[in-house]
Amino acid sequence: MSSSIMITGAVGFIGFHTSLSLLKQGKTVVGVDNMNPYYSVKLKEDRLKLLQAYPNFHFHKVDISDREAMTRVWQAHAPIHHVINLGAQAGVRFSLVDPFPYITSNIMGFMVILELCRYQPNFQHLVYASTSSVYGTNKEIPFKEDQRTDSPMSLYAATKRSNELMAQSYHHLYELPVTGLRFFTVYGPWGRPDMSAFKFMKAMLAGEPIDIYNHGKMARDYTYIDDIVAGILGALAHPSKVAKDQLHPVYNLGNDHSESLMDFIETLEKELNITAMKNFLPLQDGDVPATAADISAAVRDFGYSPSTRITEGIEHLVAWYKDYNGLE
Ligand SMILES: NC(=O)c1ccc[n+]([C@@H]2O[C@H](COP(=O)([O-])OP(=O)(O)OC[C@H]3O[C@@H](n4cnc5c(N)ncnc54)[C@H](O)[C@@H]3O)[C@@H](O)[C@H]2O)c1
Repeated sequence: MSSSIMITGAVGFIGFHTSLSLLKQGKTVVGVDNMNPYYSVKLKEDRLKLLQAYPNFHFHKVDISDREAMTRVWQAHAPIHHVINLGAQAGVRFSLVDPFPYITSNIMGFMVILELCRYQPNFQHLVYASTSSVYGTNKEIPFKEDQRTDSPMSLYAATKRSNELMAQSYHHLYELPVTGLRFFTVYGPWGRPDMSAFKFMKAMLAGEPIDIYNHGKMARDYTYIDDIVAGILGALAHPSKVAKDQLHPVYNLGNDHSESLMDFIETLEKELNITAMKNFLPLQDGDVPATAADISAAVRDFGYSPSTRITEGIEHLVAWYKDYNGLE
């Protein structure tokens, strides 16, 4: 991997940690992000500052759905043989509020990435983010990659499943080396403010009640950010040799077991030393009550081994949150 690695969504939560890990290894990273205001732009700018401390980081504030701008970035750094596509409009719930950015960023944006990779001579590997949400109404737990994924419960999930189908067509038509990763509820320092771990911490520290959906009967495969980054880089280093008439690889990247939401909250309560005021509510539209990942394929093919227990992960998360917000 001597040429540049492009990371889209580079100042997003997962993109930031992935970029940092590669920069520390001395790799050249071309980071692309449109720095949109879906959540705090200040948080994105602060992540960017840390990345820009590395001379081997080259940042472009560009929208991945802008073909011309993306072509210019690509040409400026060619050859680019590896791409990690993390730039997307994330979040299940927001897709019920404003569906359009999901189409622009996740569908058109991914289209632009596929085309750029397709025409790069000697292109090595495109790794892209999918999601556990593609399992939709599936009731079989744990989720395994070959289960049905044709019942998305949100437009967000539908766009991510569409990415898998778009990637499959490029694998079939052009033998593009491509791998999809279905992430399961990622948490950790520098995390996304719209996700529950972050919202809970903020409310608990402010003495406000937390909203608990499905009356607490929820379970998630909470996956610590460092484990996800190891999985992304493991996958990147192992482009598949799958023939074009077979399915391109798509892997679950989760933890090795699911936690109940109430246990997750209890761990947060212990770490913050605060008992949360709990506001129990029904299941929200678009949400699934439980996720759990079968990760055996990723373990087998690139040695994925998530090892961070939630007690440890939450300890790091809380320590970062307090430090970042100048608390204590
Ligand atoms: N965090 C999770 O638990 C989770 C779970 C499943 C899947 N994912 C997927 O992983 C990827 C990264 O997620 P994240 O949690 O880091 O989210 P994030 O919102 O923190 O990061 C996404 C980044 O992409 C950028 N972006 C959005 N649209 C863009 C566009 N059109 N052009 C350029 N940049 C754009 C945003 O500004 C943001 O910085 C996303 O594809 C997301 O759907 C995340």
